[in-house]
Amino acid sequence: MLLKVFITGVSSGIGAAIAENLCASGHFVYGTVRKTEDGLRLSKAFPNHFRPILYDVCDIESLPKIASQVYHVDDHLDVLINNAGIAVSGPMELLSDEDIEKQIDVNLKAVIRITNAFIPGLIKSCSGTVINISSVSARFTSPMLGAYSISKYALEAATDAYRRELLPWNVKVYSIQPGPIKTPIWEKAGQEMKDYSNSRYGPFMPSANMILKRSVRIAEPPEKIARLAAKIIKNRPSKTKFLSTGNVFFYKVFLRILPASWMDRLILAQVKKHMK
Ligand SMILES: NC(=O)c1ccc[n+]([C@@H]2O[C@H](COP(=O)([O-])OP(=O)(O)OC[C@H]3O[C@@H](n4cnc5c(N)ncnc54)[C@H](OP(=O)(O)O)[C@@H]3O)[C@@H](O)[C@H]2O)c1
Repeated sequence: MLLKVFITGVSSGIGAAIAENLCASGHFVYGTVRKTEDGLRLSKAFPNHFRPILYDVCDIESLPKIASQVYHVDDHLDVLINNAGIAVSGPMELLSDEDIEKQIDVNLKAVIRITNAFIPGLIKSCSGTVINISSVSARFTSPMLGAYSISKYALEAATDAYRRELLPWNVKVYSIQPGPIKTPIWEKAGQEMKDYSNSRYGPFMPSANMILKRSVRIAEPPEKIARLAAKIIKNRPSKTKFLSTGNVFFYKVFLRILPASWMDRLILAQVKKHMK
């Protein structure tokens, strides 16, 4: 069955890979981009299966117009993939209100606004599917990534609420929690982290940068998440949260068995090496 899909943030990374996978399978994808040129590659590759939509997910006023572009032929939507996201890094104490608002607005509030805008269409589809691209940061909060984790933990709560509230209409709501994936999001995070080296949190920076470098090294291709999303869309399984990382032991066993204070001690030991 060919499905009508709406994906946020298809300019690069995971969103682009999911869009490509679904278009190649014959589905019709509406994908949001912020710059016209970012939609050209998919438009050229899949002229009959992809339509770019210019949209910044922070733009509240344009949302009804965006939804009407998707509903212009008929008023249903089979699949919504909330993928657009940013990673704001830095110590909690030093993040500005603006930093936190931006993180929460893009990664959480926009997801809620967009989901609400498409619920009538998902219900009309009679077997609607929503996939929220969450993160392993919804399971473990690293120092310097507090704001990002806050957004992803909250996204998990939103996912649970929507999943239960939409049960009567057979709309299934999932979250995918990827570990490190090779996308431009890491370069952006690295640039922002450098700014805190001269603060009291300077001693955290070597470990934070080390973890970032390691994440870049072990990062998996976005196509892996695209295949997982395609499988979820096809099978609509009863399982609701999909952890996707090479380090399943850490997230599923280590974090469950060991008290948080153990991890805190390991973090402190690392940081102390760099304290004068
Ligand atoms: N990469 C990882 O290791 C990783 C791991 C776990 C979870 N994730 C999650 O995966 C999702 C996709 O990220 P990615 O890694 O694929 O990074 P990415 O390549 O930077 O893609 C992020 C997408 O979101 C879009 N976006 C950001 N802010 C937006 C806004 N205000 N309005 C509209 N679109 C906006 C970007 O558009 P522009 O190009 O215009 O900025 C881009 O298309 C995010 O939710 C992220 O948290 C990533």
